[in-house]
Amino acid sequence: MLSPRLSGAAIDAIEHEAGVQFPVVYKYVLLMIMLAAFTSLTSWALSAIMIRLSRNVVSKMRKDLFDHMTTLPISFFDQYQTGDVISILSYDVDTVGATLSTDLTQILSSLITVVGSFVMMLTIAPEILLIFVVTIPCSIGVTRWRAKIVRPLFSKRSRMLGAMNGYAEEAVSGLKTIRAYHQEEEFNNRFRTHNDNAVNATWKADHTAAVTGPTVNLINNLSLAAVSIFGALLYMAGGITLGNVSSFVLYSRKFSGPINEFANILSEIQSSLAAAERVLGLLAMEPEPADAVDVQPITDCQGHVEFRDVSFGYTADTTVLHHVSYTAEPGKVIAIVGETGCGKTTMINLLMRFYDVTEGTILLDGVDIRQLPRDDLRQQFTMVLQDTWLFDGTVFENIAYGRDGVTREEVVRAAKAAHIHDMILSLPHGYDTIVTGSGNSISKGQKQLLTIARAMLMDASMLILDEATSNVDTQTERRIQDAMLQLMHGRTSFVIAHRLSTITGADCILVMDKGRIVESGTHEELLAKRGTYYELYHAQFDRPNEAA
Ligand SMILES: Nc1ncnc2c1ncn2[C@@H]1O[C@H](COP(=O)(O)OP(=O)(O)OP(=O)(O)O)[C@@H](O)[C@H]1O
Ligand SMILES: [Mg+2]
Repeated sequence: MLSPRLSGAAIDAIEHEAGVQFPVVYKYVLLMIMLAAFTSLTSWALSAIMIRLSRNVVSKMRKDLFDHMTTLPISFFDQYQTGDVISILSYDVDTVGATLSTDLTQILSSLITVVGSFVMMLTIAPEILLIFVVTIPCSIGVTRWRAKIVRPLFSKRSRMLGAMNGYAEEAVSGLKTIRAYHQEEEFNNRFRTHNDNAVNATWKADHTAAVTGPTVNLINNLSLAAVSIFGALLYMAGGITLGNVSSFVLYSRKFSGPINEFANILSEIQSSLAAAERVLGLLAMEPEPADAVDVQPITDCQGHVEFRDVSFGYTADTTVLHHVSYTAEPGKVIAIVGETGCGKTTMINLLMRFYDVTEGTILLDGVDIRQLPRDDLRQQFTMVLQDTWLFDGTVFENIAYGRDGVTREEVVRAAKAAHIHDMILSLPHGYDTIVTGSGNSISKGQKQLLTIARAMLMDASMLILDEATSNVDTQTERRIQDAMLQLMHGRTSFVIAHRLSTITGADCILVMDKGRIVESGTHEELLAKRGTYYELYHAQFDRPNEAA
């Protein structure tokens, strides 16, 4: 703020009536050099601080977003594309961070410069300031008008990038199918459309934003010319020294510079606001409703489960389960069979409270599960899900997942029971082999066996097996059957299987059809009924006369 003043004073010392005052000029020059050095140093320090700040903000924002994501209801992920969520976590958060580290400092220093220059000019020649009465409203008007146009364009850019990422993610995960069906061309074309959309949206936003700076610059240059003319007139009339004219011109540049810069920053802020909107939008998503206030922790779970007239639909306008009622006694094995899409996995989703029932109640030991803490409830179950999930980590860690302090012996015992021990030993580093990238390096069946081994280590009072052995050959299945029986022993177990041979020993078989329980009973009872189960069973074994 001081240097134009100093240079003005230096000019006046050169212009002195008694000739050039060299000592005075040197003094001001030296002061100016020192000031310049000090300014550089502090601005470096400031940007270092701001970079640190923005790094911390970005890291906290990512952490909050991620934490929040894990609290969202499962139904959220039915609507959002994975790639889009990742785009918010990476691109949008980065955009906000970049604004914080650079633009915020600029805005602050601009503010100081504008106010400081104004005060300086006021002390030098208030009459020239009148020029700004015209030019500044013009600049501000242009800036605001442009901002209004530009903001939606940046929102669109973020959305388009999200859509492109979503599409890319889908394509990468389905690449095998795409190749197998020779759909590369089609996929490439569609990706090109997404990419073009993203590029066009980016171009349009940046391009439109870029007009603002030069327009404001033009206004500023005109005002600078006017200041120079007025200053010169005032000098000739003897109302101001030449040094002060020079100072004033320099201050007026400093004064309007930030306004010009601000127009540029504003476009960056607009893009940042659009990104922040998406970040905040995700943060504003309702998490799973909190547990009821009067929840009772589960102390000693017996494993008595009752579905009482339960109806459910994933969306408001469809019903997947219709008036389902049944009771599972503690320690019994309940098998659920029925054709694809009849609602078997849905029953499990409700039992685990991944979704809540639309009508009716599910009771655990006589208590409505909505009256139980979710965490407690989920801990009562050991699950082997239909879609297996392995994470980036060693085989050991994947099997020991979900329990602390598991020993090597326990893991080996579980792996042996799941008949996966020999396969693990044949891996390059045995139990310490890293399973990478969603476990692509091992087969589907092997993955399933690993998740079964994982379940064997869990000590919960209930067990859920959803198509646990669907990818395993019949021989291996028979071999792990013993271990499975051991696992089911003393636990209320829900077993879903398409291969009916695996569930003939169940205490109760529920036969489902289009979301309704149509038959229930033991294997023998159901065969004797000669109903749906009888047909299912014989269709599978193709031995119609044997049972009769
Ligand atoms: N997340 C979801 N959103 C909307 N509808 C769903 C969702 N998941 C399943 N559905 C629908 O609910 C019905 C029952 O699905 P569910 O997964 O329970 O079938 P399933 O009996 O487990 O079938 P499968 O034997 O193939 O595993 C299906 O018609 C399906 O389209
Ligand atoms: Mg299913």
